[in-house]
Amino acid sequence: MKVLVIDCCVRKELSATAVLLKAYLEKYCRDCETEYVKLYEKELKPLLGEDIIYRDSLLLKGEYDNPFFDLARQFRDADRIVIAAPFWDMSFPSLLKVYLERVCASGITFGTSAEAGLQGLCHADKFVYLSTCGGFVKGENEGARYVRILGQRLLGINETEEFIIDGLDVDPSKRAQVLKDGIKRLLS
Ligand SMILES: Cc1cc2nc3c(=O)[nH]c(=O)nc-3n(C[C@H](O)[C@H](O)[C@H](O)COP(=O)(O)O)c2cc1C
Repeated sequence: MKVLVIDCCVRKELSATAVLLKAYLEKYCRDCETEYVKLYEKELKPLLGEDIIYRDSLLLKGEYDNPFFDLARQFRDADRIVIAAPFWDMSFPSLLKVYLERVCASGITFGTSAEAGLQGLCHADKFVYLSTCGGFVKGENEGARYVRILGQRLLGINETEEFIIDGLDVDPSKRAQVLKDGIKRLLS
């Protein structure tokens, strides 16, 4: 099983979400072939007008092997995709959106046809979405929800499994304990 880990834990060694990710990988991915994309080490930029023109010209010519699509091909070919991202401003850091923008490429991760409409082309059986939140999110976690809808409606990844720990910042003196208890609850 080829697992692609999308690491959006931008606070790196200070990140609680990174601790949750490590615990998850130790429990579920010991024997997996694991590839990491550390988003904070990539120089990803939002797509601007000229990028779209360039991207579309490549797609029109069928140049799917162009380095512009390296991330998209890697994403398409993974057997499972693990995303670790903290809860920021009701969803996740914009860096993850910028990455997903790069990954969503017509002809690579999804296709379109007049008869069938949108068709996901990704191989992964599911997304695993890991996050930690400062407060208690009411209802569904918006970050996880976005990823689930993107998988279902565009990319052909029909399942999203969530591992989310809420309430880390409610009492800063208990942050480490809340994280520890959450990991125990979710992963044991
Ligand atoms: C820029 C930023 C935005 C945040 N937005 C929210 C928020 O909307 N709701 C919330 O409950 N916590 C919010 N938090 C708190 C984080 O979700 C919480 O501290 C989380 O555990 C951080 O994960 P990390 O340690 O992996 O970075 C925010 C933190 C930062 C730095």
